[in-house]
Amino acid sequence: MEEKYQFGFALGRDHALSIAEICAHLEKTHIKFSINQPVDEILIVTSENKDLEFININNLGGTIKLFRILGKTKLNNIFEFVIKNFYPNQTEKRINFGISSYGLGTTKELYQLGKNIKEYFSKSSLSARFVASQSTILSSVIITENKLLDRGFEVILIKERDEIIVGQTISTQDYKAYSFRDFGRPRRDDLNGMIPPKLAQIMINLSKINTDQILYDPFCGSGTILQEANLLGYQKIYGSDINKQQIRDTKANLAWLKQNCYANKIPDDNLFISDILNPSRLVKTDAIVSEGYLGEPIRKNHEKATVSANSLAEFYLKALNEIKNMLNTNGKIVIAIPFFIVQKKYIYLPLLDRLEQIGLKIEKPLSDVIKVKLPGRGNLSYHRPDQFVGREILVLSAL
Ligand SMILES: C[S@@+](CC[C@H](N)C(=O)[O-])C[C@H]1O[C@@H](n2cnc3c(N)ncnc32)[C@H](O)[C@@H]1O
Repeated sequence: MEEKYQFGFALGRDHALSIAEICAHLEKTHIKFSINQPVDEILIVTSENKDLEFININNLGGTIKLFRILGKTKLNNIFEFVIKNFYPNQTEKRINFGISSYGLGTTKELYQLGKNIKEYFSKSSLSARFVASQSTILSSVIITENKLLDRGFEVILIKERDEIIVGQTISTQDYKAYSFRDFGRPRRDDLNGMIPPKLAQIMINLSKINTDQILYDPFCGSGTILQEANLLGYQKIYGSDINKQQIRDTKANLAWLKQNCYANKIPDDNLFISDILNPSRLVKTDAIVSEGYLGEPIRKNHEKATVSANSLAEFYLKALNEIKNMLNTNGKIVIAIPFFIVQKKYIYLPLLDRLEQIGLKIEKPLSDVIKVKLPGRGNLSYHRPDQFVGREILVLSAL
């Protein structure tokens, strides 16, 4: 029998969105795989293909940690399992280590386990620092700042029925790089809003197009999606916006990106002014990846939010009707549209049942192989709990 390789992914806040991105990424690389989700925050991927090892976490906006699965053990055997599998090689004299647990244990219990491991190490003349936190899950910040992956290790424990899956972290999300790309760029537009770079990456990955295919953002704003596509290696990138200033901002941000993150130059001619309801140019494209107009911020008034959702639905139906003509065969539209949360009620744009009339269909965000709870009305979404506007992510193709 072929050897099996197993890797774990600690998922971002919107679990279904993260899972959809991982599956899209693996499908694109033609790796055969199966998945399971032992607890909400974790996805485990099994494959006979060793290439799974080469997954670059920096290309997956929805993954917080990537880890190798070492095996399974019983609850009362975790200590022995860790000692046997994590004992550092003889050249190490000082190490830092930490433990994250998903679905089991309290911080107190983890602390005790960490203390026991540390004592065992010190008896064998290995000086070890145990890094604990207020939570049972160590964040990327704690892991990075304490150099756990350079000078030691992080143990991952996951409860699966009456067994414990044990993993070792390989890499964590580069939170500094995301923050630099988000807040370091010269032009920001807080009025219209900008998509977080992580979500931009997820949406690009959901399109499943290859890096030699064409990607177009017709509501490019200050250029976040174009910037992330550029860093993911896409070479044929186009962007447009109705607003002249936004095109100037996009150009300034992309020039900054080229200087600071070694990105490629996107020709100026690929960035142009266009009202998508009456396009100035037809870009024949393999994927449209875009975050459109999010509407006025409405926090309290349910009626106003409903009126806004209705008029935005009309706007998006017209826009989608135009952009679908730009798709090459098998082309995809990945679009983020807003929904509103007013006094804990969710108000969605009433357009799903009218997509067929304009020749578009919604692609299933996840395969039937895995049962993942989808939020809201059953589509992928991205929503920060402190915000009144969320984004529904639709993947569309021509009928
Ligand atoms: C939420 S912003 C997009 C932000 C962008 N994703 C970013 O991260 O910078 C929406 C953009 O849609 C543009 N827009 C609104 N109506 C438009 C239309 N009819 N045609 C093209 N662009 C339009 C606005 O100018 C705005 O820049």
